Amino acid sequence: LNPELGDIIKSHLKSYADFPHSGILFRDFSPLLASGEPFAKLIAGLADHYRGEINAVAGLESRGFILSAPLAVALEIPMIMVRKAGKLPGDILRESYDLEYGSASIEVQPDTVAGLDKILVIDDLLATGGTAEASVKLLEKAGGKVVEILVLMELQALHGKDVLGDIPYHALLEL
Ligand code: PRP
Ligand code: ADE
Repeated sequence: LNPELGDIIKSHLKSYADFPHSGILFRDFSPLLASGEPFAKLIAGLADHYRGEINAVAGLESRGFILSAPLAVALEIPMIMVRKAGKLPGDILRESYDLEYGSASIEVQPDTVAGLDKILVIDDLLATGGTAEASVKLLEKAGGKVVEILVLMELQALHGKDVLGDIPYHALLEL
């Protein structure tokens, strides 16, 4: 992956102390989305890198969707929605996981996953890694195979990548 992509993120990032809770430094990629050409360059760079290597892209609600949809369109491959519990109709599979305190559940429609054997999981940020880890389990339970996890930003102090196991993992910017 081109290191220029990390520079694009770094130069279009805003950090907010004590949001949404005291003690959290919130990393906001809204300036990137508002940037026009740099955002287009990021998506084009990802499309060039992954063309021919993946046959689906799974976005993690909700900020992951902002990345997965344009990438899926650029590569003309399916996009899978991994959603927070209670949002998807019909036949669904669920995976629950622990947060720093409490727990959360995510869901997928297995029909949207079946037969896809080169899935890229994409999200804006890796913190504890719980969401990404649960997404991989969920997609595999649904009959898919995840070949890589990509995030724009990794919060290194939380060691989230340690929970991801053997699946190739990349962060464009380490914070
Ligand atoms: C954030 C972020 C990741 C997740 C990372 O999403 O976009 O999906 O948390 O945390 P983890 O590595 O500790 O699991 P959030 O739940 O805030 O939802 P949003 O994308 O809808 O804002
Ligand atoms: N999700 C989990 N931790 C976060 C942080 N510090 N900034 C933005 N999104 C997050």
